[in-house]
Amino acid sequence: MNLIERIAALEKALEDARATTVDEVEKFRVAMLGRNGAVTELFEAFRTVSSEEKRALGQRMNLLKQAAQARLDALRDIVTTDGPGSVRTVIDLSAPARLDPLGTQHPISIVMDRIVGVFTRIGYTVSQGPEVEDDHHNFGALNFPPDHPARDMQDTFFVEGKDRALRTHTSSVQVRVMENSKPPIRTVSPGRVYRNEAISARAHCMFHQVEGLYVDKGVSFADLKGTLDHFTKSLFGPDVTIRMRPSYFPFTEPSAEVDMSCSICGGAGCNICKHSGWVEIMGCGMVDPAVLSNCGIDPEVYSGFAFGMGVERIAQLIYRVPDLRMYWENDVRFLDLFTTAPMRG
Ligand code: DAH
Repeated sequence: MNLIERIAALEKALEDARATTVDEVEKFRVAMLGRNGAVTELFEAFRTVSSEEKRALGQRMNLLKQAAQARLDALRDIVTTDGPGSVRTVIDLSAPARLDPLGTQHPISIVMDRIVGVFTRIGYTVSQGPEVEDDHHNFGALNFPPDHPARDMQDTFFVEGKDRALRTHTSSVQVRVMENSKPPIRTVSPGRVYRNEAISARAHCMFHQVEGLYVDKGVSFADLKGTLDHFTKSLFGPDVTIRMRPSYFPFTEPSAEVDMSCSICGGAGCNICKHSGWVEIMGCGMVDPAVLSNCGIDPEVYSGFAFGMGVERIAQLIYRVPDLRMYWENDVRFLDLFTTAPMRG
C-alpha cells in the first residue's frame, strides 16, 4: 500500500470504529494513536517521503490525526463507568427512565386534611394550639375543677411538675380561640394529643384529634346534629346515618356520643362494629355556659356546640388498618399503600 491508500484505509477505519466498553476505547487508542499505533506509524512513514508528496498530503495527514483524536473523544463520551473495575455500561438512550421515588402523604395526614376540608368548605377556620399545654387550657377553663373526678378520665403526661402537661385533647384549643376572638366563631383544630396509655394494637400514647367549635347567637343542638350529619355523609357517602347517645363531658351540657352506621358492613354487623351495626366516632355537646364565661363570652347572649373526634379511628374506618402501631412505624411498605396520584405544578 502506498501512502495515499494507507491514509484512505485509516480514514475508513476511524469512521467504522465502535466501542461499548472502556477497554475497547483503550484498545482503539493504542491501535491508532499509541507508540506503535497505525496513525503514529503513518507519520513515521510520512517523514521519509519526498517533499513533493509532503506538500500534497500534509494537510490530509493533519486532518487524519485530528479525526483520530475526535473519534477517541467521542467513543469515550458514550462509554460510562460505574467506578473502577466495575461492570461498564453504555448509556442506552432507549431505556425507560428511572423515576425518582416520590414520597407520599401519611394516611393520618390524608384523613386529617379530608376532615378539616369538610369543615373549611362550610366556613370554618383552622386553629392550632401548643402540644405542651397549661392546666388552665387543658382542664381548668373546660370546667374540670381541681380534684374533680372527671380528670381521671384522662391519663396525663405531666411536664415540669403539675402545671404543664402534654395536652390530652384538642379541646384546649377551643379555649384559646374563645379567649382570643369574638363570636361568631366557627373553627376546627386538628392536632396531636397524648395520653399515658400502654401501647397496643388498639391504644397508643399519642394520637390525633380534630376538635370543632361553633359559637354564635342562637346555636342549637339541632345545628350540631345537622352539621355532624353533613360531616359524616361528606366523608363516608350519602348512605351513612348518625345517632346520638347521651353522655357526659365536663365542658358540654348536654353531651352526647355520636355513632355512625357502620360504613364497612352497611349496618348489617361485622367485626369492626362488633356486630352492632354502629361505630362510635366522636364526642360532642352544647358548650357549657360556664365554659363560655370562663373564656370571656356572655352565655346569656351566645350559645355554641363543640365536638371532638379521633383521627386514627376515622382512618381505620376508611382504610381498615388493623393495628394502631402501624401508623407510627414508618415502614415504607405500609406507607406506600397510600400513594396517591403525585401532585404536580
Ligand atoms: N375532648 C374529648 C375527648 O378527648 C372529645 C370531645 C367530647 C370534644 C365532647 C368535644 C366535645 O369538643 O364537645 O375525649
